[in-house]
Amino acid sequence: MSAVRGEFSSRFGFIMAAAGSAVGLGNIWGFPTQTASNGGAAFLVAYLVLAFFLAYPALMAELMIGRHGQANAVVSLTKVSNKPWQKHFAFIVGFGGILCAGFILSFYAIVAGWMLSATAQPIAALAGADAASTWLSEQSLTRNVIFTLVFIVLTIAIISRGVENGIEKWSKRLMPALLGILFLLIAYVLTQEGAMEGLKAYLLPDFSSIFDTQLIVSALGQAFFSLSLGTSVMIIYGSYISKKENLVSLGAYVTLIDVFIAFVAGLLIIPAMYVAQAQGVEIFSASGKLLSEDTLVFQVLPALFEGMGSVGLFVGFAFFALMSIAALTSSISMLEAPVSYAVERFAMKRIQATWVIGALIAVVSITIVCNLGALFGLVITLTTKVAQPLLGLMCCIFVGWIWYRNSLLQAIQQGNPEVQTTLFWKIWPWYTKFVCPIAIGAVFVHSLLS
Ligand code: PHE
Repeated sequence: MSAVRGEFSSRFGFIMAAAGSAVGLGNIWGFPTQTASNGGAAFLVAYLVLAFFLAYPALMAELMIGRHGQANAVVSLTKVSNKPWQKHFAFIVGFGGILCAGFILSFYAIVAGWMLSATAQPIAALAGADAASTWLSEQSLTRNVIFTLVFIVLTIAIISRGVENGIEKWSKRLMPALLGILFLLIAYVLTQEGAMEGLKAYLLPDFSSIFDTQLIVSALGQAFFSLSLGTSVMIIYGSYISKKENLVSLGAYVTLIDVFIAFVAGLLIIPAMYVAQAQGVEIFSASGKLLSEDTLVFQVLPALFEGMGSVGLFVGFAFFALMSIAALTSSISMLEAPVSYAVERFAMKRIQATWVIGALIAVVSITIVCNLGALFGLVITLTTKVAQPLLGLMCCIFVGWIWYRNSLLQAIQQGNPEVQTTLFWKIWPWYTKFVCPIAIGAVFVHSLLS
């Protein structure tokens, strides 16, 4: 461990930071929406199985590579490479992941900006500033530009402080706050009319649709996006973990928390949709399909909160503050990917690197905001449906096919000396070698075809 590198100071700090990266708009918005549009509880079952049996092994591959390398993604991948072509491959995968993280941040900041303006709106309404409240709740170029920039500056402010004082300190504060708000909202929503119907749709599976290919493909994609795989983020977070820690259990905790929060978010959003429906808001078409996935949060939920009277302003504020918090603990991990590379590769000062890269990402973000129709969906598709699965697959190939087995075992034994006798070591190397690449490859091919 070189003296200049940051490191998570505690186990709890790492778990909060990595879980903070994993838990984001993907869990709290993407997962419930996908569940609602893919057969409710059947999707939940598929997601749970795939998250534990496929995404967790892939997460372990990325964390292992990072902890072994103790460096940014490019250097860490190079360290497990042996032949010259493998080192070139390492650069492509590592740098590709860093680029991917940057582009994900550029669209994520826009959605997070919507969350921020939706958080500010109830405050304006409470203060009686009606014009401001209307401006905050309506889509406009100025509003989108301002809030996207505010979100990027917040992300920069945290990342420029480094690992321990920035990422770790803020994740430790924000993550528990997020869980607290989530539970309060669930308690409220479950007392409302219609909530039980939503709960049934969420928890009672219709097993006839569980083997639907589209459902499985979506559930796998959701699990990989949700664990921030294929973006070099988990390689970098892995590199900040001390060699004294047991990585197998740390990775398991992160997966458990990520899946748990997605599950809990489902307990809020799905009943909330049915409550809104009971209040006359149209959510499903006559054929039972979700009417509009993109606008669900921004139209249906504010309508639901409005139906609560003045208390709805507080509930709305709490809900969107929760979404913003979740987005922020994810966005800081996305920015850390390019920043750690610039700091280590070009010996830039952290503050300088953060502002320069943050500004570049802001330029891309604003370009997307100005061409929302043409670029927004395109960037999302290219990063999450193409780059993430492909790069995640490559990381599994590094662990399964390139990294020498003995060196891999030595790396994983640090902090976990008994690992060789465990079930994990009997299954995981085989899994990452065959099952993960084939399964991710299948998702990739499928998403290209559909
Ligand atoms: N996992 C985050 C979420 O669920 C998104 C993310 C993707 C974060 C890639 C980092 C890297 O919202």
